[in-house]
Formats: sequence, structure tokens, C-alpha cells
Amino acid sequence: MDDAAQPGPPRDKAETASNLYEQVFENNRRWARAHLENDPGFFTKLALGQDPEFLFIGCSDSRVPASEVMGLRPGRAFVHRNVANLVVNTDLNAQAVVQFGVEHLDVRHIIVCGHYGCGGVAAAMQSRDLGLLNGWLREIRDIYRLHAAELDAIADRAERYRRLVELNVHEQCINVIKTSWVQQSYLSKGFPTVHGWVYDLDTGLLKDLKIGFEERLRGIREIYHLE
Ligand code: CO
Repeated sequence: MDDAAQPGPPRDKAETASNLYEQVFENNRRWARAHLENDPGFFTKLALGQDPEFLFIGCSDSRVPASEVMGLRPGRAFVHRNVANLVVNTDLNAQAVVQFGVEHLDVRHIIVCGHYGCGGVAAAMQSRDLGLLNGWLREIRDIYRLHAAELDAIADRAERYRRLVELNVHEQCINVIKTSWVQQSYLSKGFPTVHGWVYDLDTGLLKDLKIGFEERLRGIREIYHLE
């Protein structure tokens, strides 16, 4: 979602879209050729199957390309993205991704990655009727309510916004750790570890929020014991 506070560069979108659409296939041919020049078996090896080390759960925002910001080649990261990187307990889509990533792909690390300047989080901070999005963004409004004392004590609105982005990542990590698949896999195999990151659009850098996975897991197991 575009954040009105951060307009992109001025452009004729219709014209750019039409040109870009044509260009995408040429880009793709060049991209495939470059990989083949480097390693003639690049695609045939990848086609045999995937064995990614990471599950990356991020925002759909076009400025946060998952594998690219991590510098990973295809095959390393299993990716799920939605508006504001939410892992809703009743969302079959996100839950299926976590289960598949843990049980079938044996990912070693699950990353929930938010980003400063997230339009979804900004929208949730406004008391406005946003139609279908209301139900989705209510998840973030619930997080605001849970942490209202801390957030309301931050006088600067931009700082409060950044903190809500971080708190959203913490809460989504908790939602991942709550799943039976993560708990069972970690107890029997010692992985995956869950991490919370924030991507900074202004610098292009990732920040590890150091959520303290082990401690979080212990706390969660007191309530959501699913061994
Ligand atoms: Co976003």
C-alpha cells in the first residue's frame, strides 16, 4: 500500500506500465541468460526441488523484495507476503505456509519482516472506515490496544508509528511460535528459530529486533502448550 506521506517520483503511470509490461519479458530473457552463463545447470538443478533454509514472511509492499534484500538466490527462501506481514491465527493461507515450511521444507529460520513506512500499519493508526480492509487491519488495531500505554506515551507521531511497526513484528512472531508445528519441530529437532526483523526503506538495511526466541517460546508454552 502506498503511504500518502511518501509519494513516489512523478511519472505518467499508464505510459510506464505499458512500456514496462513489454520490457518484462526481455528482462526475463536477459536474467535467465545471465544465470546460465554463470552456471549452465542453474535452472535444471533448481527444477529438481527446493530445500530452502529460510521462511520469510513479509509485507506485500513493492519496495520490500524479500530474497533481494537478503541477497539470496532462488531456492533459499520460501516466501509469504501480505498487507502488513500478518500471521493471523485463522488465516488458512498463512497457516498453511508455516506448516508446509516447517513440516515439509524443514526451514531452519522463520523471519517475520516488517518495514518502517508500512502503509498497512499507517492505515490502522487512523480511525477511518476502510471497507474490506477493516477486518484485516483490526489485527494491528488490536496490537495498538494491547500496547496502548507504551504507544500513547510516545509524543512524536512518527516515532509512535515506527514503534507500532516493531510491535506488530513482535506480535506476528508470537503468532508463528504459537503454532503446533513450530513448537513440535523445535522441541524434537531444535529448529526452526523465529526472528523478527524490520526493513528500513530509507537505508535499505535490515534490523534484527532480537525478539529472544527461546524466552518467548517458554512463555508461550505456559499458555499454548502443544507438544
Ligand atoms: Co507494508
